[in-house]
Amino acid sequence: MKLLKSEAMPFATDRLLIRLLRGDDHLALERISSEKKLAGLIPARNRALATATKLARNPKSLAATETAVELAVILKRSGKLIGACDLSATGQTGADVGYMLSSRHWGYGYGSELAVALTDIGFSLLGLRTLTAFVAVDNERSRRALHKAGFLWQALARRHSRIAGRWLDCHYLIARKPHRLRSN
Ligand SMILES: CC(C)(COP(=O)(O)OP(=O)(O)OC[C@H]1O[C@@H](n2cnc3c(N)ncnc32)[C@H](O)[C@@H]1OP(=O)(O)O)[C@@H](O)C(=O)NCCC(=O)NCCS
Repeated sequence: MKLLKSEAMPFATDRLLIRLLRGDDHLALERISSEKKLAGLIPARNRALATATKLARNPKSLAATETAVELAVILKRSGKLIGACDLSATGQTGADVGYMLSSRHWGYGYGSELAVALTDIGFSLLGLRTLTAFVAVDNERSRRALHKAGFLWQALARRHSRIAGRWLDCHYLIARKPHRLRSN
């Protein structure tokens, strides 16, 4: 995966700013991670919190490498961090996406806006050709948000993740770079 150039950040959508994760994000992420509604979901959130904590302890560690990009999601109108997302390389031209928002902000279309932004970041900024996502079968919000960003259902991955002692079946979804964007 190409390195994400810092001048491409923050990435702005109508209502969100998406920037590289920083060490001082860890308190806000800790608060979000402790929300009850986020328990039992695929633990992308733990990754963001772990990275922010690592960045706080060691300023030389990086939120963007050739294998993973970890990003904070900021609400433009308040300037507050409301979530995190990431792209993890699955090969030279592919990455798996993960994202989460504070449950206080669910249901306002931010998840769909973020899913679309992740495809723009993946395809246009990182030059990827394929993005993948695993979504727990009962996570209708995420499946619908990804569908709006162009992700299509590929397969059912039985017992894909084990969370809190329970195996989760997941939908496996793929988005492919549209032909009109194929400039690299
Ligand atoms: C997934 C997540 C980012 C969605 O965020 P969001 O801001 O609520 O998403 P949106 O408001 O854009 O809504 C997405 C879709 O869910 C639908 N939705 C809203 N409430 C719903 C509910 N209670 N049940 C099912 N679908 C619901 C919306 O109508 C919308 O679909 P539509 O536009 O086709 O009508 C958020 O729920 C989240 O952070 N969840 C926890 C972490 C997670 O699941 N991450 C994804 C792992 S793959």
